Amino acid sequence: MAPANLLVYCRAGFEKECAQELTACAGAAGVAGYVKAKPDGAFAVFHPHDAVAGAAWSARVDVADLVFARQAVHAGPLLSGLPVGDRATRIAAAARERGTRFCELFLETPDTNDGKALAALIRPLAPHLARALALAGVATDDAAAVERLHVFFLGGTACHVGVSHRGRSAPWPLGIPRLRMPAGAPSRSTLKLAEALALFIGAEALGERLAPGMRAVDLGASPGGWTWQLVRHGLMVTAVDNGPMDAALLETGQVRHRREDGFRFRPAEPVDWMVCDMVESPSRVCALAARWVAEGWCREAIFNLKLPMKKRWEEVERARAIVAESLGTRRHRLRLKQLYHDREEVTAWLAAGRR
Ligand SMILES: C[S@@+](CC[C@H](N)C(=O)[O-])C[C@H]1O[C@@H](n2cnc3c(N)ncnc32)[C@H](O)[C@@H]1O
Repeated sequence: MAPANLLVYCRAGFEKECAQELTACAGAAGVAGYVKAKPDGAFAVFHPHDAVAGAAWSARVDVADLVFARQAVHAGPLLSGLPVGDRATRIAAAARERGTRFCELFLETPDTNDGKALAALIRPLAPHLARALALAGVATDDAAAVERLHVFFLGGTACHVGVSHRGRSAPWPLGIPRLRMPAGAPSRSTLKLAEALALFIGAEALGERLAPGMRAVDLGASPGGWTWQLVRHGLMVTAVDNGPMDAALLETGQVRHRREDGFRFRPAEPVDWMVCDMVESPSRVCALAARWVAEGWCREAIFNLKLPMKKRWEEVERARAIVAESLGTRRHRLRLKQLYHDREEVTAWLAAGRR
Protein backbone atom coordinates (compact mmCIF):
# COMPACT_ATOMS: atom_id res chain seq x y z
CA MET A 1 0.00 0.00 0.00
CA ALA A 2 1.19 3.55 -0.80
CA PRO A 3 2.37 5.72 2.13
CA ALA A 4 -0.42 7.21 4.19
CA ASN A 5 0.86 10.79 4.20
CA LEU A 6 -0.61 12.96 1.50
CA LEU A 7 1.66 15.70 0.15
CA VAL A 8 -0.09 18.40 -1.86
CA TYR A 9 1.41 21.28 -3.82
CA CYS A 10 -0.37 24.63 -3.94
CA ARG A 11 0.01 28.29 -4.70
CA ALA A 12 2.30 29.93 -2.10
CA GLY A 13 0.11 31.59 0.53
CA PHE A 14 -2.70 29.02 0.29
CA GLU A 15 -1.25 26.38 2.62
CA LYS A 16 -3.86 27.15 5.28
CA GLU A 17 -6.68 26.60 2.80
CA CYS A 18 -5.04 23.34 1.70
CA ALA A 19 -4.85 22.24 5.32
CA GLN A 20 -8.52 23.08 5.91
CA GLU A 21 -9.54 21.27 2.76
CA LEU A 22 -7.49 18.13 3.48
CA THR A 23 -8.75 17.99 7.04
CA ALA A 24 -12.36 18.40 5.89
CA CYS A 25 -11.97 15.84 3.13
CA ALA A 26 -10.33 13.22 5.35
CA GLY A 27 -12.80 14.01 8.15
CA ALA A 28 -15.73 13.34 5.82
CA ALA A 29 -14.25 9.87 5.28
CA GLY A 30 -13.85 9.36 9.04
CA VAL A 31 -10.08 9.84 8.94
CA ALA A 32 -8.52 12.13 11.54
CA GLY A 33 -5.05 13.61 11.31
CA TYR A 34 -3.04 16.80 11.27
CA VAL A 35 -1.46 18.92 8.54
CA LYS A 36 2.08 20.24 8.51
CA ALA A 37 2.58 23.33 6.37
CA LYS A 38 4.72 26.47 6.46
CA PRO A 39 3.24 29.84 5.46
CA ASP A 40 4.26 30.58 1.85
CA GLY A 41 5.89 27.15 1.57
CA ALA A 42 3.64 26.18 -1.39
CA PHE A 43 2.91 22.69 -0.05
CA ALA A 44 1.21 20.89 2.84
CA VAL A 45 1.38 17.35 4.20
CA PHE A 46 -1.56 15.54 5.77
CA HIS A 47 -0.54 12.99 8.41
CA PRO A 48 -3.35 10.62 9.42
CA HIS A 49 -3.39 9.42 13.03
CA ASP A 50 -4.19 5.90 11.84
CA ALA A 51 -1.80 4.95 9.03
CA VAL A 52 -3.94 2.10 7.65
CA ALA A 53 -7.18 4.08 7.51
CA GLY A 54 -5.23 7.11 6.25
CA ALA A 55 -3.62 5.15 3.43
CA ALA A 56 -6.97 3.67 2.40
CA TRP A 57 -8.46 7.17 2.26
CA SER A 58 -5.57 8.91 0.53
CA ALA A 59 -5.40 6.17 -2.13
CA ARG A 60 -8.89 7.29 -3.23
CA VAL A 61 -8.14 11.02 -3.31
CA ASP A 62 -8.35 12.50 -6.79
CA VAL A 63 -6.59 15.84 -7.12
CA ALA A 64 -9.36 16.91 -9.53
CA ASP A 65 -11.74 17.01 -6.54
CA LEU A 66 -9.48 19.25 -4.47
CA VAL A 67 -9.78 23.01 -4.90
CA PHE A 68 -6.49 24.33 -3.62
CA ALA A 69 -4.14 21.41 -4.36
CA ARG A 70 -2.37 21.31 -7.71
CA GLN A 71 -0.96 17.84 -7.15
CA ALA A 72 -1.45 15.01 -4.65
CA VAL A 73 1.45 12.69 -3.86
CA HIS A 74 1.52 9.73 -1.47
CA ALA A 75 4.77 10.61 0.20
CA GLY A 76 7.16 8.76 2.42
CA PRO A 77 8.84 10.44 5.41
CA LEU A 78 11.26 13.28 4.82
CA LEU A 79 14.70 11.95 3.90
CA SER A 80 17.10 14.43 5.43
CA GLY A 81 20.85 14.73 5.81
CA LEU A 82 21.46 13.07 2.45
CA PRO A 83 25.23 12.79 1.89
CA VAL A 84 26.20 15.57 -0.55
CA GLY A 85 28.57 13.26 -2.42
CA ASP A 86 25.91 10.57 -2.96
CA ARG A 87 22.32 11.67 -2.54
CA ALA A 88 21.07 9.34 -5.24
CA THR A 89 21.61 6.00 -3.48
CA ARG A 90 19.28 6.73 -0.55
CA ILE A 91 16.68 8.31 -2.80
CA ALA A 92 16.75 5.26 -5.09
CA ALA A 93 16.38 2.96 -2.06
CA ALA A 94 13.33 4.94 -0.90
CA ALA A 95 11.91 4.78 -4.43
CA ARG A 96 12.42 0.99 -4.43
CA GLU A 97 10.21 0.81 -1.33
CA ARG A 98 7.47 2.59 -3.28
CA GLY A 99 7.66 0.17 -6.25
CA THR A 100 9.70 -0.90 -9.24
CA ARG A 101 7.76 0.29 -12.27
CA PHE A 102 6.72 3.89 -12.82
CA CYS A 103 5.55 5.70 -15.91
CA GLU A 104 7.50 8.87 -15.18
CA LEU A 105 9.91 10.51 -12.78
CA PHE A 106 9.33 14.09 -11.61
CA LEU A 107 12.13 15.88 -9.74
CA GLU A 108 10.35 18.78 -8.08
CA THR A 109 10.82 21.68 -5.69
CA PRO A 110 8.18 24.01 -4.17
CA ASP A 111 6.74 26.65 -6.50
CA THR A 112 8.46 29.53 -4.69
CA ASN A 113 11.47 31.71 -5.50
CA ASP A 114 13.62 29.61 -3.17
CA GLY A 115 12.22 26.49 -4.79
CA LYS A 116 13.17 27.77 -8.24
CA ALA A 117 16.75 28.43 -7.08
CA LEU A 118 16.83 24.95 -5.54
CA ALA A 119 15.58 23.40 -8.80
CA ALA A 120 18.69 24.75 -10.55
CA LEU A 121 20.91 23.11 -7.90
CA ILE A 122 19.05 19.80 -8.14
CA ARG A 123 19.22 19.50 -11.93
CA PRO A 124 22.77 18.01 -12.06
CA LEU A 125 21.56 15.20 -9.77
CA ALA A 126 19.24 13.81 -12.47
CA PRO A 127 21.76 11.57 -14.33
CA HIS A 128 23.15 10.22 -11.02
CA LEU A 129 19.63 9.43 -9.84
CA ALA A 130 18.80 7.73 -13.14
CA ARG A 131 21.83 5.45 -12.69
CA ALA A 132 21.02 4.73 -9.02
CA LEU A 133 17.39 3.92 -9.88
CA ALA A 134 18.48 1.55 -12.66
CA LEU A 135 20.89 -0.15 -10.23
CA ALA A 136 18.06 -0.51 -7.69
CA GLY A 137 15.88 -2.11 -10.36
CA VAL A 138 13.44 0.81 -10.59
CA ALA A 139 12.09 1.73 -14.04
CA THR A 140 10.66 5.22 -14.57
CA ASP A 141 9.74 4.96 -18.26
CA ASP A 142 7.23 2.10 -18.24
CA ALA A 143 4.32 3.38 -20.34
CA ALA A 144 2.05 0.69 -18.87
CA ALA A 145 2.73 1.63 -15.25
CA VAL A 146 -0.07 3.41 -13.40
CA GLU A 147 2.07 5.31 -10.94
CA ARG A 148 4.43 8.24 -11.28
CA LEU A 149 7.48 8.66 -9.05
CA HIS A 150 8.03 12.05 -7.38
CA VAL A 151 11.16 13.28 -5.65
CA PHE A 152 10.21 16.55 -3.95
CA PHE A 153 13.23 18.47 -2.65
CA LEU A 154 12.92 20.82 0.29
CA GLY A 155 16.64 21.58 0.35
CA GLY A 156 19.83 20.32 -1.24
CA THR A 157 19.97 17.33 1.09
CA ALA A 158 16.31 16.74 2.01
CA CYS A 159 13.42 15.37 0.01
CA HIS A 160 10.21 13.37 0.08
CA VAL A 161 9.97 10.37 -2.21
CA GLY A 162 6.41 9.60 -3.19
CA VAL A 163 4.05 8.34 -5.84
CA SER A 164 0.96 9.64 -7.59
CA HIS A 165 -1.63 7.57 -9.40
CA ARG A 166 -1.88 8.47 -13.06
CA GLY A 167 -5.66 8.54 -13.08
CA ARG A 168 -6.00 10.66 -9.93
CA SER A 169 -3.25 13.23 -10.28
CA ALA A 170 -2.12 16.06 -12.53
CA PRO A 171 0.04 15.01 -15.48
CA TRP A 172 2.45 17.96 -15.23
CA PRO A 173 5.52 18.52 -12.99
CA LEU A 174 4.36 20.42 -9.88
CA GLY A 175 0.82 20.04 -11.21
CA ILE A 176 1.38 23.17 -13.32
CA PRO A 177 0.20 23.24 -16.94
CA ARG A 178 2.62 25.40 -18.91
CA LEU A 179 0.54 27.41 -21.36
CA ARG A 180 2.01 29.89 -23.79
CA MET A 181 0.41 33.32 -24.05
CA PRO A 182 -1.26 33.19 -27.48
CA ALA A 183 -0.27 35.97 -29.88
CA GLY A 184 -3.31 38.10 -30.60
CA ALA A 185 -5.20 37.46 -27.37
CA PRO A 186 -6.15 40.83 -25.85
CA SER A 187 -5.38 40.00 -22.19
CA ARG A 188 -3.37 37.53 -20.09
CA SER A 189 -6.65 36.54 -18.55
CA THR A 190 -7.13 34.39 -21.65
CA LEU A 191 -4.80 31.81 -20.04
CA LYS A 192 -7.27 31.35 -17.20
CA LEU A 193 -10.03 30.19 -19.50
CA ALA A 194 -7.58 28.12 -21.56
CA GLU A 195 -6.44 26.33 -18.39
CA ALA A 196 -10.00 25.92 -17.13
CA LEU A 197 -11.08 24.32 -20.42
CA ALA A 198 -8.07 21.99 -20.41
CA LEU A 199 -8.73 20.99 -16.81
CA PHE A 200 -12.52 20.78 -16.64
CA ILE A 201 -13.28 19.59 -20.17
CA GLY A 202 -10.01 18.00 -21.30
CA ALA A 203 -8.38 17.96 -24.73
CA GLU A 204 -10.35 14.91 -25.92
CA ALA A 205 -13.83 16.30 -25.29
CA LEU A 206 -13.04 19.90 -26.16
CA GLY A 207 -13.80 19.60 -29.88
CA GLU A 208 -17.26 18.20 -29.16
CA ARG A 209 -18.20 20.50 -26.29
CA LEU A 210 -16.90 23.71 -27.88
CA ALA A 211 -17.70 23.26 -31.54
CA PRO A 212 -17.96 25.80 -34.37
CA GLY A 213 -21.41 27.35 -34.53
CA MET A 214 -22.17 26.91 -30.83
CA ARG A 215 -23.18 30.01 -28.90
CA ALA A 216 -21.75 31.56 -25.78
CA VAL A 217 -22.25 34.55 -23.53
CA ASP A 218 -19.23 36.16 -21.85
CA LEU A 219 -20.23 38.27 -18.83
CA GLY A 220 -17.59 40.87 -17.90
CA ALA A 221 -15.85 40.32 -21.23
CA SER A 222 -13.70 43.45 -21.74
CA PRO A 223 -11.10 43.55 -23.25
CA GLY A 224 -11.78 40.05 -24.55
CA GLY A 225 -9.26 37.43 -23.37
CA TRP A 226 -11.97 34.88 -22.56
CA THR A 227 -14.03 35.79 -25.65
CA TRP A 228 -10.85 35.22 -27.69
CA GLN A 229 -10.70 31.59 -26.49
CA LEU A 230 -14.34 30.98 -27.42
CA VAL A 231 -13.87 32.62 -30.84
CA ARG A 232 -10.80 30.46 -31.39
CA HIS A 233 -13.01 27.39 -31.03
CA GLY A 234 -15.45 28.79 -33.59
CA LEU A 235 -18.22 29.89 -31.19
CA MET A 236 -20.49 32.88 -31.73
CA VAL A 237 -20.12 35.07 -28.63
CA THR A 238 -22.23 37.76 -27.00
CA ALA A 239 -19.72 39.80 -25.00
CA VAL A 240 -21.40 41.72 -22.16
CA ASP A 241 -19.44 44.58 -20.60
CA ASN A 242 -19.58 48.36 -20.43
CA GLY A 243 -15.86 48.39 -21.17
CA PRO A 244 -14.42 48.28 -24.70
CA MET A 245 -13.79 45.06 -26.60
CA ASP A 246 -10.65 44.40 -28.62
CA ALA A 247 -11.18 45.72 -32.16
CA ALA A 248 -9.67 42.67 -33.90
CA LEU A 249 -12.07 40.39 -32.02
CA LEU A 250 -15.07 42.43 -33.14
CA GLU A 251 -13.81 42.21 -36.73
CA THR A 252 -14.02 38.40 -36.68
CA GLY A 253 -17.80 38.71 -37.10
CA GLN A 254 -18.21 36.15 -34.29
CA VAL A 255 -18.64 38.68 -31.48
CA ARG A 256 -21.58 40.88 -30.59
CA HIS A 257 -20.77 43.47 -27.94
CA ARG A 258 -23.56 44.42 -25.51
CA ARG A 259 -22.89 47.29 -23.11
CA GLU A 260 -25.13 45.98 -20.33
CA ASP A 261 -25.06 44.89 -16.72
CA GLY A 262 -23.97 41.25 -16.62
CA PHE A 263 -26.31 40.56 -13.70
CA ARG A 264 -29.35 41.74 -15.66
CA PHE A 265 -28.49 40.38 -19.10
CA ARG A 266 -30.59 37.42 -20.30
CA PRO A 267 -30.04 35.59 -23.58
CA ALA A 268 -32.90 35.76 -26.10
CA GLU A 269 -32.48 32.00 -26.61
CA PRO A 270 -30.58 29.36 -24.62
CA VAL A 271 -26.86 29.18 -25.36
CA ASP A 272 -24.33 26.40 -25.03
CA TRP A 273 -21.92 28.25 -22.75
CA MET A 274 -21.90 31.09 -20.26
CA VAL A 275 -18.55 32.31 -18.96
CA CYS A 276 -18.14 35.02 -16.36
CA ASP A 277 -15.10 36.93 -15.13
CA MET A 278 -16.86 39.89 -13.48
CA VAL A 279 -15.09 41.27 -10.43
CA GLU A 280 -17.87 40.81 -7.89
CA SER A 281 -18.58 38.97 -4.65
CA PRO A 282 -18.24 35.19 -5.08
CA SER A 283 -21.71 34.61 -3.65
CA ARG A 284 -23.32 36.92 -6.21
CA VAL A 285 -21.45 35.36 -9.12
CA CYS A 286 -22.25 31.85 -7.90
CA ALA A 287 -25.94 32.60 -7.53
CA LEU A 288 -25.95 34.09 -11.04
CA ALA A 289 -24.20 31.10 -12.63
CA ALA A 290 -26.48 28.67 -10.81
CA ARG A 291 -29.50 30.60 -12.10
CA TRP A 292 -28.21 30.43 -15.69
CA VAL A 293 -27.93 26.65 -15.43
CA ALA A 294 -31.16 26.18 -13.45
CA GLU A 295 -33.20 28.25 -15.93
CA GLY A 296 -31.64 26.40 -18.86
CA TRP A 297 -30.15 29.65 -20.25
CA CYS A 298 -26.87 27.73 -20.77
CA ARG A 299 -25.76 24.10 -20.66
CA GLU A 300 -22.36 24.71 -19.10
CA ALA A 301 -20.75 27.61 -17.29
CA ILE A 302 -17.23 28.57 -16.28
CA PHE A 303 -16.92 31.41 -13.80
CA ASN A 304 -14.18 32.96 -11.77
CA LEU A 305 -14.63 33.68 -8.06
CA LYS A 306 -12.48 36.45 -6.57
CA LEU A 307 -11.79 35.31 -3.02
CA PRO A 308 -11.62 37.62 0.00
CA MET A 309 -8.32 38.02 1.89
CA LYS A 310 -9.62 36.00 4.83
CA LYS A 311 -11.81 32.92 5.26
CA ARG A 312 -11.19 31.80 1.71
CA TRP A 313 -11.96 28.14 2.39
CA GLU A 314 -15.25 29.16 4.01
CA GLU A 315 -16.05 31.22 0.90
CA VAL A 316 -15.51 28.16 -1.28
CA GLU A 317 -17.82 26.12 0.93
CA ARG A 318 -20.41 28.91 0.71
CA ALA A 319 -20.11 28.86 -3.09
CA ARG A 320 -20.86 25.13 -3.11
CA ALA A 321 -23.84 25.63 -0.80
CA ILE A 322 -25.29 28.40 -2.99
CA VAL A 323 -25.10 26.23 -6.09
CA ALA A 324 -26.57 23.21 -4.27
CA GLU A 325 -29.42 25.30 -2.92
CA SER A 326 -30.16 27.03 -6.24
CA LEU A 327 -30.19 23.80 -8.21
CA GLY A 328 -31.99 21.78 -5.57
CA THR A 329 -32.80 18.32 -6.90
CA ARG A 330 -31.77 19.15 -10.49
CA ARG A 331 -28.85 17.02 -11.62
CA HIS A 332 -25.72 19.08 -11.98
CA ARG A 333 -21.96 18.89 -11.66
CA LEU A 334 -19.79 21.50 -10.03
CA ARG A 335 -16.02 21.59 -9.90
CA LEU A 336 -13.88 24.29 -8.35
CA LYS A 337 -10.15 24.78 -8.73
CA GLN A 338 -7.55 27.34 -7.96
CA LEU A 339 -5.90 27.31 -11.36
CA TYR A 340 -2.22 28.01 -11.85
CA HIS A 341 -3.27 31.22 -13.62
CA ASP A 342 -5.61 32.21 -10.77
CA ARG A 343 -4.24 34.49 -8.08
CA GLU A 344 -6.54 35.19 -5.11
CA GLU A 345 -9.24 33.38 -7.04
CA VAL A 346 -10.73 30.03 -7.86
CA THR A 347 -12.45 29.04 -11.07
CA ALA A 348 -15.62 26.97 -11.24
CA TRP A 349 -17.27 24.78 -13.87
CA LEU A 350 -20.97 24.08 -13.55
CA ALA A 351 -23.01 21.93 -15.89
CA ALA A 352 -26.57 20.69 -15.99
CA GLY A 353 -27.04 16.92 -16.05
CA ARG A 354 -24.61 14.17 -15.33
CA ARG A 355 -21.55 14.72 -17.53
C1 LIG B 1 -11.23 40.87 -14.93
S1 LIG B 1 -12.05 41.83 -16.10
C2 LIG B 1 -12.47 40.69 -17.35
C3 LIG B 1 -11.32 40.31 -18.21
C4 LIG B 1 -11.78 39.43 -19.36
N1 LIG B 1 -12.27 38.14 -18.90
C5 LIG B 1 -10.66 39.17 -20.34
O1 LIG B 1 -10.23 38.03 -20.46
O2 LIG B 1 -10.20 40.10 -20.99
C6 LIG B 1 -13.58 42.13 -15.35
C7 LIG B 1 -14.56 42.85 -16.24
O3 LIG B 1 -15.85 42.74 -15.63
C8 LIG B 1 -16.57 43.87 -15.98
N2 LIG B 1 -17.71 43.99 -15.05
C9 LIG B 1 -17.71 44.14 -13.70
N3 LIG B 1 -18.97 44.19 -13.24
C10 LIG B 1 -19.77 44.05 -14.32
C11 LIG B 1 -21.18 44.02 -14.50
N4 LIG B 1 -22.02 44.14 -13.45
N5 LIG B 1 -21.67 43.86 -15.74
C12 LIG B 1 -20.84 43.72 -16.80
N6 LIG B 1 -19.49 43.74 -16.69
C13 LIG B 1 -18.98 43.93 -15.47
C14 LIG B 1 -15.56 45.01 -15.88
O4 LIG B 1 -15.98 46.09 -16.68
C15 LIG B 1 -14.29 44.33 -16.41
O5 LIG B 1 -14.11 44.63 -17.77
